[in-house]
Amino acid sequence: MKINKTYIAPMVGRTDIFFRILIRSISDSINLFTEMTTCDAYLFTDRRNYKVDTNEHHISIQLAGSDPKKFAKCAKIIEANGYDELNINVGCPSSKVIKGAFGACLMKEPKILSSIVTEINEHSDIPISIKTRLGLNYDESLDLLINLITETRAVGCRKFIIHARNAILGGLSPKKNRSIPKLRYQDAETIKNMFPDLEFIINGGIEEIELIEEKLDIFDGVMIGRKIYSDPIFIQRLQNHLDGKDFQLSRSEIVEKYLDAIQLLKHHNSNYLILRHLFGLYYNTSKSKKWKKLLHQIISEDLNVNELRKFKEH
Ligand SMILES: Cc1cc2nc3c(=O)[nH]c(=O)nc-3n(C[C@H](O)[C@H](O)[C@H](O)COP(=O)(O)O)c2cc1C
Repeated sequence: MKINKTYIAPMVGRTDIFFRILIRSISDSINLFTEMTTCDAYLFTDRRNYKVDTNEHHISIQLAGSDPKKFAKCAKIIEANGYDELNINVGCPSSKVIKGAFGACLMKEPKILSSIVTEINEHSDIPISIKTRLGLNYDESLDLLINLITETRAVGCRKFIIHARNAILGGLSPKKNRSIPKLRYQDAETIKNMFPDLEFIINGGIEEIELIEEKLDIFDGVMIGRKIYSDPIFIQRLQNHLDGKDFQLSRSEIVEKYLDAIQLLKHHNSNYLILRHLFGLYYNTSKSKKWKKLLHQIISEDLNVNELRKFKEH
């Protein structure tokens, strides 16, 4: 099965429990990620109480921070809560991250990163991965990345997710940092070839099935973010293509599955939170406008979300 080599990218404000339920209503095999959480937010909010649902596996939680001891504390709780993997964020370029000296800034601090990996390993058995960029600012050499991988591999990190562009610190917003620095897949491939014993997942601007297939021949996995968020049904096409299946849930069936699963959640949640990730479900179809209008109406008039079940797909 090839679909289990694909990953939903971690996205703040998007890959929350509702989006993950939506994805699981479409595919039970694509790998899931949480949103990025700082170690402090994990330790001191009710995030630490969330236990992974059996349907969510395989799921990685992404943590950001720079204090190895805090990572160790989080790792113990994360392991007990049932996550399959702890991913360390070494790619986020936001100004908050620069102040806190974590995220992409850690590319310059491989010793801190290796202490983080060591501490996690000493206090838990959870598998670790690192999500990072090719480099920082306008320097296109791969020295920082090679150093980072060498140091963390020496203390047991085996898996790296490479967003195949640099992070520009201090000059560009996070959004611009996802489009302006140029994509350099070839450099990611060079890294993959330098460390044949490690696992590399490629990420960044991968939106077509053919490109995913091509990258799966080179890398150990492919991570996709914005394309899946704007067009979740894409996963179904991808899964069928990669694994030679012809399995097709209708959009109405997906909505049924989604609403049934949401209704099992214990907390009361606002319609906005429940529905905000569904806007792309009819992406590029003649029903898209009507669908979005209905979602807006249910949210703004606080109607029962089950109204969605009445939507006529054809
Ligand atoms: C709204 C949004 C939020 C994001 N939040 C995170 C995050 O929390 N952690 C992270 O490592 N990357 C984050 N990213 C970056 C994605 O994980 C991914 O690396 C990037 O979007 C490139 O992949 P894509 O071209 O397939 O979207 C975010 C991206 C978007 C669009």
